[in-house]
Formats: sequence, structure tokens, C-alpha cells
Amino acid sequence: MKSIRYLAFLWISTLLACSNPEQPAEIKAPQTPQQTSKQTQIDHAKDYHSFANPDVVKVSHIDLDLTADFDKQQLIGTATLTYQKVDEQGKTLILDTRGLTILEVNSGNTPVAFELQKEVPNLGSALHITLPEQGNQVSISYHTSKDASGAQWLTPEQTAGKQYPFLFTQAQAVHARSFIPLQDSPQVRVTYTATIRTPKELLAVMSAANDPVTPRDGVYEFNMPQPIPSYLIALAIGDLHFKPMGERTGVYAEPSILDAAASEFEDTESMLEATEKTYGPYSWDRYDLLILPPSFPFGGMENPRLSFITPTVIAGDKSLVSLIAHELAHSWSGNTVTNATWRDLWLNEGFTTYLTYRIMEMIYGTDRYNMEAVLGYQDLQADIAALPENDEILAIDLRGRNPDDVFSNIPYEKGALFLREIEQKVGRDNFDKFLLEYFNHFAFKSITTDQFVSYLDQTLLTTYADVLDKERIHQWIFEPGIPDGAPMPESDAFSKVDTVRDAWLEGSLSAKQINTQDWTVHQWLYFLNNMPQKLNDMQLVELDSTFQLTASKNNEIAHSWLLIAVKNEYKPAYERLYSYLVGIGRNKLVKPLYRELAKTVEGKAFAKRAFEEAKPGYHPLTVHVNQGFVE
Ligand code: BES
Ligand code: ZN
Repeated sequence: MKSIRYLAFLWISTLLACSNPEQPAEIKAPQTPQQTSKQTQIDHAKDYHSFANPDVVKVSHIDLDLTADFDKQQLIGTATLTYQKVDEQGKTLILDTRGLTILEVNSGNTPVAFELQKEVPNLGSALHITLPEQGNQVSISYHTSKDASGAQWLTPEQTAGKQYPFLFTQAQAVHARSFIPLQDSPQVRVTYTATIRTPKELLAVMSAANDPVTPRDGVYEFNMPQPIPSYLIALAIGDLHFKPMGERTGVYAEPSILDAAASEFEDTESMLEATEKTYGPYSWDRYDLLILPPSFPFGGMENPRLSFITPTVIAGDKSLVSLIAHELAHSWSGNTVTNATWRDLWLNEGFTTYLTYRIMEMIYGTDRYNMEAVLGYQDLQADIAALPENDEILAIDLRGRNPDDVFSNIPYEKGALFLREIEQKVGRDNFDKFLLEYFNHFAFKSITTDQFVSYLDQTLLTTYADVLDKERIHQWIFEPGIPDGAPMPESDAFSKVDTVRDAWLEGSLSAKQINTQDWTVHQWLYFLNNMPQKLNDMQLVELDSTFQLTASKNNEIAHSWLLIAVKNEYKPAYERLYSYLVGIGRNKLVKPLYRELAKTVEGKAFAKRAFEEAKPGYHPLTVHVNQGFVE
């Protein structure tokens, strides 16, 4: 028999649900930061970063018809959503939006009632659409705002060619909603088609089938026939041209950087073939790269069929191409098997980072693999030293937090290290076979950490019960830090660097006596990244005059050196520092510099000047993440 207390609870819950006219009983709104209590049990399958109700009504296809208005810096047009009712009683479709102006919603030619809810910080506004009795489509007319969080409109001056404007979108994690009204959750997969209208002289490309020889007439059609999560919908428009690199690979870029990009990334086709050989066929037809202007806030973004890539990795010597291996690897881990919520991001990034190292080893050999693994491991150690314990957990609790503010090496390098440990325990060939089957088993599905753990339970943990144990796996995924006895990457090439760095610091070797002729970019990075926090003026001048570090054209080496310069207030590098901060918007390269500058009054004033000059050219995400350092 049900207790009175239980009946009273039911009665009160019903009353509460019905007494809120804005909140139909079937809808569970995400918790706002204020409501979130860390004490409450986390619902692992729930996406805390979306208002959508895919458990009631699920969108399966989106058809876009959008015009890019470069004068107003707006996308304007319609999104037609095809949906299915999961719950027959469902009457409301709830979408995510952010900064969108909704003009009208129609079903066929009939207007449909809709209501845009109050804006919630970081998440935007839920759009409630009352579904018509008949049919399975609604058409939403809307336009974006000038400062959409997921789009950047660049003036001609902010591009390589300086003649034409440029637009690009960046949807991950929760920004697709700022340019399309949709169910913006990685657990909802959609196919999409699009007609994009642009000024005639520009070319539009999307994360879909792109025709490299399409006539440049200002109207471009796209089709993405495989179901993808919303964060993989992407669009770019500019003075873009195409150059093939291989049979299935090519590059889109502005004309002035097209050749440099195509030769820097010429190994993309071999990377694709090597990955297929180990992890199964590539599912997405072509694999092209799009090179963006330097304000692109990430190194790369794995938009399917067309990875978006920062130009800051075009170094002239292929030293930074692991980025391409990384974005390519996402075609398996991330795009084919997708994290169900942002808590599970490590399933995307950890697997991809593991695959990246493996691809780099296959293409460039074990020495390179070892060097990159050590650099990654050191980045991880630095984060573990700096982050609060809760942020060191792979399956992180992100309730009430903005995913943009939680970006770290944990899902990447800790995730990869965890997989490397399993690989070492079960043997490389067996682990490769496991991964291939895992990608097949969950192909075109979005999965939670719990689903991965139970799959592991039924597969490797059963077959290799003698070498794997459940508790240790639990420790890797749900506890902070790196478990004792975890694999520790090592590199002989770096040991030599340690020896000469120590000798130089001791004074027994001058900078000129260091034989750096054969050093790789990775050795330079290791040399610089492991300098003591404080160097004296003589040491700084000696390093700079011997190795021309302030003038380095390699953006990663320049970054490492500029960080040393800021820590030691080495003023001769500040002119370069200023132009670096103004010229590059890739967050990973600028954020550590702003953070370090902000530690002194003088440094902060300098940072503020650079930031103010750079801001009109920065992407909204780079502004958001760095603003706090200069206030
Ligand atoms: N998917 C990520 C970028 C991302 C992650 C955007 C989370 C928003 C939220 C992309 O694949 C990535 O990892 N980029 C890295 C590449 C690097 C690790 C090689 C980057 O941009 O630095
Ligand atoms: Zn990634």
C-alpha cells in the first residue's frame, strides 16, 4: 500500500507542475546555475546544457535556407525541422536558441503558436512550439544577431586577402543554437540539407558534401546524409578556393595561403589510409580541410567531411600537423561514436588524442610519437597541478557550468593515458581490434560514460580479466589525478635536451656551444617549456640573441618563448608579444599569455592595451574566456 506521505508528494508535484503556465508538465527545464545543487544525484543520461525535450519529440532532419547578409552581419532565412513524437501525447517541441529573433513559425502555410522563454545565462532561451495536430514538420523563420556566440563575421581587413569579408561558425559545445533554432544536444542526431545564399563572388562550404568544382554563383546546396549531432553543423563563407591533396582529400583556403596549406598538410591522405587500416573504413566519403583566418578560436574543429583548421599551424615544416591527425581521428571517435552529454567529452577527446598519437607514429615514426606524448603528458601534469580536484575527473560534473569555461587537458591527455594503459595491458593488436569493434558497435550513436563502462565490462574486462580490473578503471574515470603506476611517456631525444639545458643553466655550457642544428620543433618546445620559472637578464639575452627566439616564425615556439618573456618581464620581446596577441585569436595560444600578464599591475595594463586593440578581431569565445584577465 502506498504511504500517505508518498500520495501527498504526488499531489504536490502535480500541483506544482500545473500551476506554472509557462512550464507544461511534460517538460523538464535544465537547472540554472542558481538552482544547481551538487548534492543532488546527477542524472547521467540527462543533458544539462539543453532545454530540448527529445524524450518527447525528436527532430531528425533540418533543412536550412539561409542568406548571409554581410552588411548586417546576420544570417536570415528558415529552418524547417522534421520531427517524430516519441511520446504520442507530446504537444510541445522545445528547441534551444540563443540571441535569435524568431519571426514566425509555420506548419505548411498555417502559422503555429510559439513562445520564446526568458534567457538563461550560458544556455540561451528555450523556444516552445505548439505542435499542429497533423504533420511532422515546422518551419521557423528567423535571423541571427550580429554578435551570435557561434559565428564570427570578419571584415576584409581581418582576412588574408584583405578584399572580401568572411564568416565562419563554431558550434561546439553549445553554440549551434546561436545560428539555428534546434535541439542543441549531442544526444540528438540529425541529417541536414541546406541552401546558402551569399554575395556572388564568395564560396560557401559546410560540414556536408561539398562539390569542389561548384559554380561560384552565390547559391550553394548541401546535403549531410548521415545523422550528426548539432555541434557538428558548420558553415564558412569567404574568398575560398580548393586544391586537391589526394584522391579523397583536399584543402579550401583563401588564395594566398592555399599552396602553403596544401603542401604543409600533404600527408593527410596517408593519415586517412593508415587510420582506416587500423580502425575500419572512413564513413564520411571525402575528407577536406578548411583553413580559417587567424582569429579561429581553436586549433581545429572536426566538422564532418571538412575539418576547420587554424592557419597558425602552417609552419613550413609539418611540425604541427598532429592537429590534422587529431581532427581526422574524430571522424571515428566523436563523429561516428559521439559523447551523449558534455560530461562525456572525454569519450570524444580522450579517444581522439589516443588515436592521434597512434596515427602520428604510423606516419612519422616512434621518435615523433614519443616526443609528442611527453609534451602532452607535461601539459596534463601542469593542469593537474593547477586545477581543483573535481575538474580532474574524466566524467566531469558540469551542472551549472559553461563548457567553454572548463576547457583543459584532462579529457584529452588523461583520457589518452587511460587508453594507453589498457593498450599496454591487453596488447596493442588486441586493443586495436577492440577499438575497431567499439566504433562499429556504437556507429552513429551518442553514448554516455556509463554505456562505455558497461561495454568495457562485457568485452575487454571479460576477455582479459587476468590483467584488467574494474576498480582501477573506475579510478581512472571517476577520480581525480593520475592513478599510481600509470604509463609515463619517455623520449630519448628529450633526454639529450635535458642534459644541455642543465649544463647551460649551471654555466658549464654557453648557448652558442649547444648544438641545436638537428633539433626538431618538439625539442625546442621541450627545451623552453622546462626552463625554470625565473631566468636572469643575461640568460634571456643570451638565449634570444643566439637562437632568435623573439623572431621565431613557429607559433608554438614563439608562444613558449613569449611565456618565458612575460614571466621574467623580458621587455625586448614585448613588441612581438603585442603583435602576437593582436594577430592570433587561437585561445590556446593567447590565454596563457593573458593569464601570466595579468599577474602584475604593469603586465595587466599591457594586456589590456593589446586586448582592446585585438578585441574587434577576436572570436566571441576568445573574448569571453580572456576578458576576465584584463578587467
Ligand atoms: N573538438 C575540439 C574542439 C572543441 C572541444 C571545441 C570542446 C569546443 C569544445 C577539437 O577537436 C580539438 O580538440 N581541438 C584542439 C586540437 C588539439 C588538441 C590538437 C585545439 O583546438 O587545440
Ligand atoms: Zn578534439
